[in-house]
Amino acid sequence: MANPGGSFSFDIVVFGATGDLSLRKLLPALFLRDAAGQLEPDARILGAARQPLPQAEFRALAAQALDRHLPAGAFDKDVWARFEARLEYLALDVEQPEDYAKLAKWLRLDCGQVTVYYLAVAPRFFGPICRQLGAAGLNLPCARVVLEKPIGKDSASAKAINDAVGAVFPEEQVFRIDHYLGKETVQNLMALRFANSLFEPIWHRGVIDHVQMTVAENIGVEKRGGYYDQSGALRDMVQNHLLQLLCLVAMEPPVAFEADAVRDEKLKVLQALHRIGERDVAIKTVRGQYSAGAVNGGAVPGYAEEVERPETSTETFVVVKAEIENWRWAGVPFYLRTGKRLPQRRSEIVIQFRPVPHLIFPGASRDVVANRLVIRLQPDEGISLHMMAKVPGPGGLRLRQAPLNLSFAETFQDRQPDAYERLLMDVVRGNPMLFMRRDEVEAAWHWVEPILAGWDAQGDAPKHYTAGSWGPSAAIGLIERDGRTWHEDMR
Ligand code: NDP
Ligand code: BG6
Repeated sequence: MANPGGSFSFDIVVFGATGDLSLRKLLPALFLRDAAGQLEPDARILGAARQPLPQAEFRALAAQALDRHLPAGAFDKDVWARFEARLEYLALDVEQPEDYAKLAKWLRLDCGQVTVYYLAVAPRFFGPICRQLGAAGLNLPCARVVLEKPIGKDSASAKAINDAVGAVFPEEQVFRIDHYLGKETVQNLMALRFANSLFEPIWHRGVIDHVQMTVAENIGVEKRGGYYDQSGALRDMVQNHLLQLLCLVAMEPPVAFEADAVRDEKLKVLQALHRIGERDVAIKTVRGQYSAGAVNGGAVPGYAEEVERPETSTETFVVVKAEIENWRWAGVPFYLRTGKRLPQRRSEIVIQFRPVPHLIFPGASRDVVANRLVIRLQPDEGISLHMMAKVPGPGGLRLRQAPLNLSFAETFQDRQPDAYERLLMDVVRGNPMLFMRRDEVEAAWHWVEPILAGWDAQGDAPKHYTAGSWGPSAAIGLIERDGRTWHEDMR
């Protein structure tokens, strides 16, 4: 299946191949892996969706998608000639059992290669597709099924999906994608913590005051308003991406860099999260919705106008004060913040250390700022440690904060691959480390659900914020009530 040089023979079936995810992320990622020489000559890609489409038109659609979504300069005519020949299309309605016979004809059923079923369709189809694959005898031992987030919209629907998928495919054949785990800088969190002896001894409540995690986007809901309006920021970003980041920052060192060892530790963090219910939802969370404003100098409409639902109460911004009830983190809040139409696209984790216990510099006490480690996930991936330093010069001793900066772009000059490139190849390799295990997904929903119920019980609409601002003023109030401030100067 794999040669020693690291290239792979596989068939991938992309259900939902004409959709946004497939065209924007999956096909470009597969193309780039082909360009890197990781696809064996016989690797094949089958796009499947309902729309009847001649092969040539699907290939033209793929070419157009690559043109739009590949990084500048990444298109190569020779690679395209090879890649195009791998692409085929099958008109298939996932709800029609007879269509799976057409799929069976295309597949190589002898398992001489890996077969990947990538479900880039709405989550309500995950169970039915697996059932039909099973009924048609296509749940091959060499098959792997890839599920996109969101896995359901609450714990009951997540469990129903997991049960339906699990009835056909054993857990080791199921790969639940959270693309944040495929980002280089997110994986770097594990390197930072567990390949350096420096941080682990100070990684606890005795030295760390609090943690801030921000995933800010300047885009709105783009063409995904239909999905987003049913979902909102808590389900779309916090239940998965932000909680996964929190797990990587907070977990105990795993016994080995192995899938289940890492996932066991992440699960313990999720299980230790304090449940925020109806009583404290008003003080531990803020939800907002953008109204018309300006982002990057351009006027943009409000959310309700964008999704054409004047009455919508879906949140596009959320702050949650998360608390982990264990020995390492008791009393250390993790402030999670995410939103759309904020001033910048910027994701970062700020580890705020405690102030020095005793000041020996008379007159400089106001200048002494507690240390802060800033992990920039995107863009300008890197790490900076903010330290106090003496301002050069004779006379009195003056202090100023100065950063120790590590820029990944400067240090490692290779292109940062897109998360999907890494994740797709991990599916083919059968490495589940960067995928969510069933129990993690369900534990994350168990934590999110009482917040959703608390908001419902409260009955308040989300607070409005102007597009291009950092969210409603209540988000500032939430952290300032604790005597802290958001890290706004991101450098
Ligand atoms: P789109 O609506 O853009 O695409 C859906 C695709 O599914 C289309 O190709 C559509 O084609 C196909 N489809 C719909 N119904 C059927 C059917 N009955 N049988 C076969 N094919 C069908 O969705 P996205 O690409 O945005 O999202 C796909 C999945 O990925 C969703 O679960 C989404 O939540 C998830 N996701 C998407 C992200 C993104 O950035 N887009 C990010 C993270 C997750 P046709 O109508 O011709 O059948
Ligand atoms: C997706 C969400 O999972 O992540 C989107 O559904 C969001 O709403 C996207 O825009 C953000 O991903 P990235 O990689 O651009 O930070």
